Amino acid sequence: MSSYSVGVIGGDGIGPEVVAEGLKVIAATGVELSTTDYDLGGARYLRDGTILPDETLAEWRDLDAIYLGAVGAPGVPRGVIERGLLLRMRFELDLYINLRPFKLDGDNGHDFVVIRENTEGAYAGEGGFLRKGTPHEVATQGSVNTRRGAERCIRYAFELASERNNHLTLVHKTNVLAFSGDLWQRTFNEVALEYPAVSTDYNHIDAACIYFVQDPQRYDVIVTDNLFGDILTDLGGAVSGGIGLASSANLNPEVGPSMFEPVHGSAPDIAGKQKANPIAAILSAAHMLKYLGEPSAATRIEAACEPHLNMDGSTSEIGDAVVAELAK
Ligand code: IPM
Ligand code: MN
Repeated sequence: MSSYSVGVIGGDGIGPEVVAEGLKVIAATGVELSTTDYDLGGARYLRDGTILPDETLAEWRDLDAIYLGAVGAPGVPRGVIERGLLLRMRFELDLYINLRPFKLDGDNGHDFVVIRENTEGAYAGEGGFLRKGTPHEVATQGSVNTRRGAERCIRYAFELASERNNHLTLVHKTNVLAFSGDLWQRTFNEVALEYPAVSTDYNHIDAACIYFVQDPQRYDVIVTDNLFGDILTDLGGAVSGGIGLASSANLNPEVGPSMFEPVHGSAPDIAGKQKANPIAAILSAAHMLKYLGEPSAATRIEAACEPHLNMDGSTSEIGDAVVAELAK
């Protein structure tokens, strides 16, 4: 059996605890990883100012995957680690798909997937200040949308919809965002012609928020831009068992390593107390195995998590329960 080279960033707060459970569960499947730990995140930054060295980024390009817990620590100025580490990783490794699946409680466990564009939009960092600090201060924050960026994301979503239930919804705000919305809608309509079997729908982002709460069964695959996807997937977590279950995959489907992380943050208030639910991190580990080419181990992990989604117990007890389930 091959061994995959995986970079592990436990990160801050509860990150290292949940990542430890994910790695424990992977080991129990028999899939072998050769891991390299990277001490990065808010704590490292506070210690010596390091955010993401160029050499580290260069090293990552040769990895098979990256597994990340959570980053963000009290005392670090807001955004420094988010932009300097997490967003830089997404942009430089061109992880243009942020795939976030959700499963509803009850209801035969209806599941749906949000495909969030992960390298453009309001996250691109376009904008600036004029006359900063004066009463006439101006701040602009643009949203960068390229035809190529929207198209590759939309195309990925159509492919995924074809493998699932042939239904794809575009979420945007085309009634107000006349330029980016138009580019997204036109691109969506054009790519749709190549997938005649996929039925399509469109919702404005505000309406989609209502449907997430009141009628999420209408969704199968959703595709949306970076910022709408950020907000919508937190809501997705909230309506499908809580953010402690929400997993994600930051993918470049063509080249280089992809990155796998729970949607939740570092939760410094409960760090080190074994209180965090590791299921989101374990399910993210399952995504990683799927993309490494170990789909049957991935499916086994997902099935082993199923009975323990709402388990009371410490972080490691929940991990142990998943491991025990795998052995059944
Ligand atoms: C997420 C997070 C990040 C984002 C933050 C930490 C920059 O909220 O992965 O959803 O906004 O993308
Ligand atoms: Mn978010």
